[in-house]
Amino acid sequence: MKGIILSGGASTRLRPCTKVTSKQLLPVYNRPMIYYPINTLIKAGIKDILIIISPDRSGDYLNLLGSGRQFGAKFSYEIQDKPEGLAQAFIIGRNFIGKDNVAMILGDNIFEDNFSKDIKKFKKGAKIFAKEVPDPERFGVVEFGKNMKVISVEEKPAKPKSNYCVTGLYVYDNKVVEMVKNVKPSARGELEITDLNNLYLKAGELKAAMVPGAWIDTGTFDSLLEAQILAKNKLQDKFVI
Ligand code: G1P
Repeated sequence: MKGIILSGGASTRLRPCTKVTSKQLLPVYNRPMIYYPINTLIKAGIKDILIIISPDRSGDYLNLLGSGRQFGAKFSYEIQDKPEGLAQAFIIGRNFIGKDNVAMILGDNIFEDNFSKDIKKFKKGAKIFAKEVPDPERFGVVEFGKNMKVISVEEKPAKPKSNYCVTGLYVYDNKVVEMVKNVKPSARGELEITDLNNLYLKAGELKAAMVPGAWIDTGTFDSLLEAQILAKNKLQDKFVI
């Protein structure tokens, strides 16, 4: 299993803090934000990691993270020229993925849990991770039937069919590099990860698990503050890097 950390985007919601650096390099308590998803992948046993970044910040990432040796990992880098969607990672990362399966985590997502069992168990198809939230309309939303069967996934629906949002950790089999070619840009001009997940759903190959521990998408100042507090109180002993 290879890993991708998608860490592009302009993060206009966090201006002016993101005027001179990338959101995912801002501090979350005592570490740069991207250390958290790096830690999540490495704890899950994934050490061959592609970091996808925006062109204007690439020097900052190299200076901070380098080869990955200091983390006991191997980091590669690719550039996402424009924020054209999460699913574009599998086009940009095609050569890196090669013949392997791949787990992608978003550079601004902070998880408390250890996913090593899910990663070891994974064989084929796609797997997403859901969390109950009070404001599902801000996220991808997953609707469940019996036995956690996925009925639908929708991107930021005005009328969410459940309170379960899709968190920023996704696991795909190698088919993803072909499947993503069938994803068309959405109304906002992006290759949506939700459309990719819907292709797996139609093929009967989309599974979901619950995220038991804390999870935060640090896209706003309020969630960033929440993440700082979580990091200080609960995440310090969860680091292996
Ligand atoms: C993205 C995805 C969304 C997912 C969220 C998790 O949204 O499009 O489906 O729920 O990440 O963090 P974004 O944060 O890019 O708006």
